[in-house]
Amino acid sequence: MNKENLPRIVGFLCTWCSYTGADLAGTSRMKIPPTIKVIRVMCSGRIDPLFVLKAYLRGADGIMMMGCHPGDCHYQKGNYNARRRYVMLQSIFKTLGLDEDRISLWWVSASEAPRYAQVTNEFSEKIKQMGSNPLREEIFL
Ligand code: FES
Repeated sequence: MNKENLPRIVGFLCTWCSYTGADLAGTSRMKIPPTIKVIRVMCSGRIDPLFVLKAYLRGADGIMMMGCHPGDCHYQKGNYNARRRYVMLQSIFKTLGLDEDRISLWWVSASEAPRYAQVTNEFSEKIKQMGSNPLREEIFL
């Protein structure tokens, strides 16, 4: 956690749905945690598993992957690829002895600003309860 004891979460958001939903949540003045650092990608299928691993290894306390709902991907099946990669990442985390609960995958559409606010608040609270990424001290000391 940082000085204010807030978790550092990296969110990879598909531009067409989740990023637009996040934008709508912001313009609608919904309560969004200040803990999410958003990285906009064209599609959740563009989220290379290495992006997630690198974010974690560089000290992120949690990582959110977000895309369009199944069947709504603007590139047909990018989100299905993202779902497969998420399952693979969970397996890699488990195999390496890392906490797979620190990564998550969500479907949030462009009109689902309340859902964006809800899932980011819930995940942020969960990561806050879990504490800091244990690797951070090992890496940065
Ligand atoms: S365009 Fe949103 S998940 Fe593919």
